[in-house]
Amino acid sequence: MSVNPLANKANAWSALFAEPMSELVQRYTASVGFDQRLWAADIEGSLAHAEMLHAQQLISASDWADIQRGMAQIRADIEAGRFEWKLELEDVHLNIEARLTELVGMAGKRLHTGRSRNDQVALDVRLWLRGEIDGLLALLAQLQVVLVDKAEEYADTVMPGFTHLQVAQPVTLGHHLLAYVEMFARDTERLADTRRRVNRLPLGAAALAGTPYPLDRERVARTLGMEGVCQNSLDAVSDRDFAIEFSAAASLAMVHISRLSEELVLWMSQNFGFIRLPDRFCTGSSIMPQKKNPDVPELARGKTGRVVGHLMGLITLIKGQPLAYNKDNQEDKEPLFDTVDTLRDTLRIFVEMLAGLEARPDNLRAAALRGHATATDLADYLVRKGAAFRDAHETVAHAVRLASESGRELAALSLAELQAIDARIADDVFGPLSLEGSLASRRVVGGTAPEQVLAQVARHRVRLA
Ligand code: ARG
Repeated sequence: MSVNPLANKANAWSALFAEPMSELVQRYTASVGFDQRLWAADIEGSLAHAEMLHAQQLISASDWADIQRGMAQIRADIEAGRFEWKLELEDVHLNIEARLTELVGMAGKRLHTGRSRNDQVALDVRLWLRGEIDGLLALLAQLQVVLVDKAEEYADTVMPGFTHLQVAQPVTLGHHLLAYVEMFARDTERLADTRRRVNRLPLGAAALAGTPYPLDRERVARTLGMEGVCQNSLDAVSDRDFAIEFSAAASLAMVHISRLSEELVLWMSQNFGFIRLPDRFCTGSSIMPQKKNPDVPELARGKTGRVVGHLMGLITLIKGQPLAYNKDNQEDKEPLFDTVDTLRDTLRIFVEMLAGLEARPDNLRAAALRGHATATDLADYLVRKGAAFRDAHETVAHAVRLASESGRELAALSLAELQAIDARIADDVFGPLSLEGSLASRRVVGGTAPEQVLAQVARHRVRLA
């Protein structure tokens, strides 16, 4: 019989079914509307499988040739936008397989030997995600490079460092920006590590139990550049933790972007006035002509919510599922796709936007001069003069109070006033009390001293080269 069973799916899965699937169920269960984006992975996986079937003499040389020819045609049609996706063929896998059989006949029907959609879909998602991870890693590297460039530019630009959003101690803007480089470097490590577990071959698990055909799984893994084969067929078709851990890593990256966004929004406000972002990343208001709004960082902060939401969705998707494959797993795709899209677009726009970030050093300095930012430095000075740190802390509190009560900054007190508080204070105190003195003293590894910032910049440049 030359009937193509897949062409007729609306009428029945097979001879077993007495009536066609209801239209509502068809729409409810179909995934082709969204999983067609897996098409390239699906073809790549099928070709690797077919090549192995041929090598194992499970299909003939002419079948293998037909499959390659048919898949080349399908690829061209999809790329040209003339492939006809059919809802009644449910998903990307059945759509491509049915079209292959239309194009090449019997060879198309032999492709699925030793394979199930259960291991096929697991492979497709893994292959697709592996490619996306590589793109994200490249973007994360670009983002770090932009931040490192800015950190170098502002290596000695003083600003207030905050705790509890209260002025705490002076830091450099370069140092502050490098904090984010550390975060994005860890995000990179996490993604690269996740990639190793994504990059394993589930094919060969078939529906759930493995297959009686003598498949060469290692060969398929090699063809696809995978790091190994999944060692338990039940796990291979039902595991989605590679997607969940990806989603967790993506959530953390978005959370880091969100924290940065929050700072950019604050820093751009009139009350801070620390930075400018290029106009092309801002929007105006339809009613208030003076407004320039940081929409991009605000939106990135907002989009973090949906990425974290997808993580909750994916992890909940798995929690009650018995082994092995369940249709629930079809629900992994939309959250995963949206996570990738959101993170990718956000990284891209941040690379460009941050390249245009401009600091306003005068405002940064003025802000650092408010709030007695060098109070700790005075206490450390007293320790060097022999005081115990707790006593020095107390002494400085008196000095801050004296300054505040007279509407001045700590660093503006006269030597006589300071000496009245502690006689050990001499005129060498004004170095430590100055912003530059405070910065320069923090030369410990990881500290904010400009020379340390430049050393970190150099380290990052080597790492990112
Ligand atoms: N569209 C399905 C998914 O995304 C493919 C696997 C279907 N397998 C099955 N036995 N119904 O998970």
